Amino acid sequence: MAINIIRLGVNIDHVATIRNARGGLHPDPVKAALLAEEAGADGITAHLREDRRHISDRDIDRLMASLTVPLNLEMAATEEMLGIALSHKPASACIVPEKRQELTTEGGLDVVGGYDHLVSFVQRLRDANISVSLFIDPNEQQVRAAKKIGADKVELHTGTYVEKTGAARAAELDRLRKGAELCESLDMEVHAGHGLTYDTVVDIAAIPQFTEFNIGHFLIGEAIFIGLVDSIQKMKDLMDKGRA
Ligand code: PXP
Repeated sequence: MAINIIRLGVNIDHVATIRNARGGLHPDPVKAALLAEEAGADGITAHLREDRRHISDRDIDRLMASLTVPLNLEMAATEEMLGIALSHKPASACIVPEKRQELTTEGGLDVVGGYDHLVSFVQRLRDANISVSLFIDPNEQQVRAAKKIGADKVELHTGTYVEKTGAARAAELDRLRKGAELCESLDMEVHAGHGLTYDTVVDIAAIPQFTEFNIGHFLIGEAIFIGLVDSIQKMKDLMDKGRA
């Protein structure tokens, strides 16, 4: 069943990156999240990393208290993060791989290899009525393992597609398309995210199975030039154009 509307989840991590560069309170990621809501964001995404390099525990408290759109909490599969998720009960949790030294999330979660570790995380989050997403590469085995483990949805990693050019990009777009079709055939909702820009979002939006994109770094960077509201609205327009 192809869906015509794509939701935009705005990731506000890098507002916190700028704030933390000086250690004060400005710019406030919660203020950015509320502005993103006004601009038409359908959800807010925040990644509480183990090292708290951008989003803080207090940011999560304040987001939960102030948002009117759903919060998607990105988290590693650790007992600490599980406890935080269960105490806040965000609308959804997206489980991502996390390595301390990485600049950003590199590669998708290995659901096949980590199955035994992940299965109880997925179950405990779902038992708390938190919708669980797994961030994976567009790989058949990973999609099938996500279904088997009981995830409500997957988010396909678009980072490789964004980085490549020419034939390699076309091949990765095809992998994303096939991954999205497989999710649909397994009756599993499918999202996309990582590294998306104005130039790269249109072709991804043309894949009808995707129902949500989570986009952060580009939107926050573009806000320097045209403002956050306009950067979000332009992204939504391009998503609509791609889908049409
Ligand atoms: N989706 C997931 C699972 C991510 O880990 C990230 C990066 O935090 C994003 C989406 C957003 O990526 P970007 O900031 O490159 O738009």
